Amino acid sequence: MDTLSRCPENIVLIGFMGSGKSTVGRLLARKSGRYFLDADALIESQQGRPIPEIFTKEGEAFFRKLESESAEWMAKCVRGTVISTGGGMPLVVERLQDIGTVVYLKLPFEKILERIPPGERNGRPLFGDIERAERLYTEREKVYEARAHLTVDASASAEEVVETVLSLLAQHGGRHERG
Ligand code: S3P
Repeated sequence: MDTLSRCPENIVLIGFMGSGKSTVGRLLARKSGRYFLDADALIESQQGRPIPEIFTKEGEAFFRKLESESAEWMAKCVRGTVISTGGGMPLVVERLQDIGTVVYLKLPFEKILERIPPGERNGRPLFGDIERAERLYTEREKVYEARAHLTVDASASAEEVVETVLSLLAQHGGRHERG
């Protein structure tokens, strides 16, 4: 794998819950010679408990603090990796570009609903109420746009999204501002 011979910049995938960050991220990692890291799984492993339990027992603010600490750690310690972030991370971490090139996977809310059918919404503490989720979506869209180096239409298949990301990254030059 390329990662072993050189250390490419991280790619940070952002977007709303259900926009395909993990699926696209795994495939993108394989195709681009990087490792894959799921920021939610990182927090769960550090805490030794699932995210819904962290929300229920400690509250959302505590979870956001963990997100912000994990982002600091990733900026300092992680290289050569595709990182899928939790949907709320761009709100608490202003300088995502310190971690890597930031790619926003953009998907209309109706498509998000199709991708997360009712039975699969339990594991997402902020998806219990659809109206609230839609409000969050509207508020966050602008933040995602503002934080991203690149925005990609995520409604195509994961394979197509990965090809688009790779060709945009090639044009972008893989450079991002670190600071
Ligand atoms: C959240 C999204 C979740 C997870 C947590 C909060 C959010 O991640 O971090 O439930 O605020 O949008 P996914 O976007 O991977 O579902």
